[in-house]
Amino acid sequence: MVAAAAAERVVAELREQCATPAARLDGVAAAMEEEMRAGLEHEGGSKIKMIISYVDNLPNGSEEGLFYALDLGGTNFRVLRVQLGGKDIKPESREVSIPPHLMSGNAAELFGFIASALAKFVADEGRSNGVLNGRQRELGFTFSFPVRQSSITSGTLIKWTKAFSIDDAVGEDVVAELQTAMEKQGVDMRVSALINDTVGTLAAGSYYDEDVVIGVILGTGSNAAYVEKANAIPKLEGELPKSGNMVINTEWGNFSSSCLPITEYDQALDEESLNPREQIFEKLISGMYLGDIVRRVLLKIASQSSIFGDINRTKLKTHFILRTPDISAMHHDETPDLRVVAEKLEENLKITGTSLETRKVVVEICDIVTSRSARLAAAGIVGIIRKIGRGTAGNKEKTVIAIDGGLFKHYGKFRQSLESALVELLGEEASKSVGIKLANDGSGLGAALIAAAHSQYIN
Ligand code: GLC
Repeated sequence: MVAAAAAERVVAELREQCATPAARLDGVAAAMEEEMRAGLEHEGGSKIKMIISYVDNLPNGSEEGLFYALDLGGTNFRVLRVQLGGKDIKPESREVSIPPHLMSGNAAELFGFIASALAKFVADEGRSNGVLNGRQRELGFTFSFPVRQSSITSGTLIKWTKAFSIDDAVGEDVVAELQTAMEKQGVDMRVSALINDTVGTLAAGSYYDEDVVIGVILGTGSNAAYVEKANAIPKLEGELPKSGNMVINTEWGNFSSSCLPITEYDQALDEESLNPREQIFEKLISGMYLGDIVRRVLLKIASQSSIFGDINRTKLKTHFILRTPDISAMHHDETPDLRVVAEKLEENLKITGTSLETRKVVVEICDIVTSRSARLAAAGIVGIIRKIGRGTAGNKEKTVIAIDGGLFKHYGKFRQSLESALVELLGEEASKSVGIKLANDGSGLGAALIAAAHSQYIN
């Protein structure tokens, strides 16, 4: 009994600290909107970088030809080949997992690894794919980290995020690094576009639905891009683009505000992370971190109560041992005795023989952490919707948000929670003009589409 009471205290405290009532979320949305404006004002104006993507036109369906894409940003990277022309595009792709030591090694090794996978992909094409008509192959490069772009085909890495940390790449032009690595592998390809995954998701989304004006990633990391009016970007130098628009990569992962509900677990996670005091919003909402927040709460419960029995805490103390797919499986457990929860606790943390009550506590922790994440993500989206003057009652224009990433794709309760928070924040009436759409693997396809729009063979 005493044990259960101690555990309940930890959970009650967590519930209170993670609470995201509508008023708080409104504050988050307003702070996001304000930071966006500040970031557009001048370079360094805000913690969120509001990066100019040099994409001033989204695909319109006239893109044609054979294009390649390279998608790097999470634990895997993908190589794609896409024959464009017509609405029914079927990319062929290959996914390769990145050996963890390459995520913290040196740039030449990482880019060498990627270029060699690309070389194999091209070598395996066989002769039947020789539809290039003597043209050089062209590639869209999705590089999902903050990059200061100087054109559609160049940009320097500002810093690493997520699980990457390769010092000698910071400040370097990532296209030049890829190009050098490709040359070493004998791959003759031109990088025609360098984009962020959010920009790719936005582009792929708008290819199928012209009402898509925002692209969001809710996966290992989290970020959003959107279509901004060029004349609302004071820091944009030179002539305004003809379209009057510019896609902005917000890099909202680095957002932080006193409105955010931050707990002792988040603080500890941040301090012990690869990038302390950075990517605070991302650490509250993205798939890389949710499992580890839950693990930290379980560890606290284990140290203050005996509801897990007399366990060896070595596993519970291991960072990132509990992953978001695990907490999703526990959260969706519908067996009467919460068997999946029992299995996951045993498999990952060596906690055995738990009572049904204890398993319920674990499910509740998953629920608290995940709904905070989903609701904060919704608040971020509302911040963008308000910035572009959409989503108000009586607004005739439809606003569609294309979303990609494993957290959104595979975690049903996360998605439901995000969708209901959007309605809560916008209001029933106004939310009718706002739609959400899954842009499955849009980031790679988007890169190919943008590469096509910037092909050296069109003028
Ligand atoms: C991180 C990166 C950002 C990317 C996001 C989703 O936040 O900094 O560039 O878009 O993860 O992959």
